[in-house]
Amino acid sequence: MKQNSRKQQYKKMRAYHDYSLLKHNTFGIDARCRRFVEYESVEEAQQLVCSLTEEDRPLLLLGAGSNLLLTGDYNGTVLHSGISYIEQLDDERVRCGSGYVWDDFVDFCISHNLYGAENLSIIPGECGASAVQNIGAYGAEAKDLIEDVEAVEIATGKVHHFTNEECQYSYRQSRFKHDWRDKFLITSVTYRLSKTYQPQLDYGNIRAALAQRGIDQPTAVQLRQTIIDIRNAKLPDPKETGNAGSFFMNPIVSRAKYEALAAEYGNMPHYTIDAGHEKIPAGWMIDQCGWKGKALGRAGVYEKQALVLVNLGGATGTEVVRLCETIQRDVKEKFGIEIHPEVNLK
Ligand code: EPU
Repeated sequence: MKQNSRKQQYKKMRAYHDYSLLKHNTFGIDARCRRFVEYESVEEAQQLVCSLTEEDRPLLLLGAGSNLLLTGDYNGTVLHSGISYIEQLDDERVRCGSGYVWDDFVDFCISHNLYGAENLSIIPGECGASAVQNIGAYGAEAKDLIEDVEAVEIATGKVHHFTNEECQYSYRQSRFKHDWRDKFLITSVTYRLSKTYQPQLDYGNIRAALAQRGIDQPTAVQLRQTIIDIRNAKLPDPKETGNAGSFFMNPIVSRAKYEALAAEYGNMPHYTIDAGHEKIPAGWMIDQCGWKGKALGRAGVYEKQALVLVNLGGATGTEVVRLCETIQRDVKEKFGIEIHPEVNLK
């Protein structure tokens, strides 16, 4: 009886059976799931998790699907946050529902004279995922802005608030990817911005791109537009070519390993992490292996950025996995470094 009334509440939410995930993954993989449910408030998220039974499992917690490779049909329930609001809490803090589009948040901040998110412009995805993946670009990371993550515990329906420190952020990592994996539905994220504009222009080719436009000291709007242009020039538009951005993480290696490689490859780009570690761009290594612009079946390596794998049209998840594994093997053979997908394989 109790089960029935729970199921009735569950029905009020948007729920579908045998549902195509084609529109829910930017790789453009045409896979299906047994069930798809969207919750639109904290209360709905609580009702939903309390209504789940063993037959609903396994669960896949999905954002915009911009960091996902579906390797086949998903024989379980996909849960998506439709919590989509933004509110300025005070002078410096903005709270977003987990389903709010990340780039709309960046735009909101700049138009409300709140700074710190400019370099993270036009990253695909939703705010909930920013707190899981610690998205980053051009020397900035979501962790530099995140103050509080609100989440519903799947096992109990209890609402938790986690501090930035509790989330244990590091490069493309958080606790939500490790010991908290699949344990929480994120419902909102609170970000702390700055009222003072302090542009970060030193990463990669930002200064060069600004100079080309004759800009020396960009406004936040100009900086955002420049980042958008840089990204658009080298990353494929998922509406035209299926992809999930960087397919691999950039590996962090010991200084000794870096020095041995630098002696062999004088032009190897690198970013210093700390006294003992360097980050090597996986895209550069894949490029050096000759993979840029090449393909295996209908899965390819993007011709302008080797870190991005693309769906050349109708690729299956398995074809992309085959390409991924072949590239991993080649990079390991040439550089002695293991590279790992940053994209979630499901
Ligand atoms: N490179 C090559 N050939 C390539 C690709 C890159 O030689 O085919 C070289 C570049 O010339 C440069 C270096 O590798 O010297 C780094 O390349 P890039 O600046 O394009 O950045 P990345 O390390 O490949 C990372 C992020 C991107 C982010 C950019 C800019 C990761 C996994 N990726 O890429 O994030 O936009 O820096 O900050 O950390 C994403 O996560 O989806 C994403 C696009």
